[in-house]
Amino acid sequence: LSNALALTPPMGWNSWNHFGCNVNEKIVKETTDELVSTGLSKLGYEYVNIDDCWAELTRDDKGNFVPNNSTFPSGIKALADYVHSKGLKIGIYSDAGYYTCSNKMPGSLGHEEQDAKTFASWGIDYLKYDNCNNDGSKPTVRGDMHPAKWGYQVGNSWRTTTDISDNWESMVSKADMNEVYADLARPGGWNADPDMLEVGNGGMTKDEYIVHFSIWAISKAPLLIGCDVRNVSKETMEIIGNKEVIAVNQDPLGIQAKKVRMEGDWEVWSGPLMNSTVALLVVNRGGYRISITAHWDDIGIPVDTIVEARDLWEHKTLKQKFVQNLTALIDSHACKMYVLKPIA
Ligand code: DGJ
Repeated sequence: LSNALALTPPMGWNSWNHFGCNVNEKIVKETTDELVSTGLSKLGYEYVNIDDCWAELTRDDKGNFVPNNSTFPSGIKALADYVHSKGLKIGIYSDAGYYTCSNKMPGSLGHEEQDAKTFASWGIDYLKYDNCNNDGSKPTVRGDMHPAKWGYQVGNSWRTTTDISDNWESMVSKADMNEVYADLARPGGWNADPDMLEVGNGGMTKDEYIVHFSIWAISKAPLLIGCDVRNVSKETMEIIGNKEVIAVNQDPLGIQAKKVRMEGDWEVWSGPLMNSTVALLVVNRGGYRISITAHWDDIGIPVDTIVEARDLWEHKTLKQKFVQNLTALIDSHACKMYVLKPIA
């Protein structure tokens, strides 16, 4: 959407992946506090997004949403004020159908304008709009129905697949499905499936979560933390707090990286960044340590260019300079991520 929002992929937190329907106002407030006190908000994580299950099953006699009386007793307006008082932004969730996916609260079908006005009056900054229990109406009159094809007209990001689960197979399959739509991402409109982050939820190894975060970052996916940030480990902080990887995600050019080579268990992802630099990610999807070579040919750098490589997880600029290609030894289910800078 050309509304001057999301010029880089949105960053923040969403309740769903960790809390599902057990979200409440205490969690949202404490998460807000924690995003500030851990310094995550300074790194760009600014949206605090409530997902499904925040409202009562029935609307009031005027047809308005009623915040769930037991889990959000102070109401959403008060919560929005709280989040804003901490310098952050608040997101909420609805659905294009009769009920949301949980079936625990109404969707916005037939109440679209009314709900939009309600959200605006509460000071909501971000809306996630789901599509369960709809009336069968089509998103477009003709042509391709996939959200990646029309999402830009109505939103700042759109889902490209079904939900992620907290395991390696699910994570890499979402990454693959999302990659197909790379050309449709741009400032103001992002492919938002691979879905929200699972880093910190416990189902993957540290290396696997590093792969997860690296692919999401280079793919210009929204970085929406999906764990309980009130109990975040040092390891998780190192991953979601990696400034250099976040900078790739937030690069002003906003070009989604592509998988430029796949051979057996290894893959090479790359995409252009500002100032003629290039983001490079090499991933080992197999069960053994292997060496992976990224060729300049594949990543759009003239072959004889001498390149300096910054390792974004080791936080060091490699002493060696590279021509034609770069080879790295990668452990099973692990990766290396670089910014390549051509030098004179
Ligand atoms: C389906 C969405 O894809 C999830 O991210 C989450 O919002 C659930 N619905 C909530 O019911």
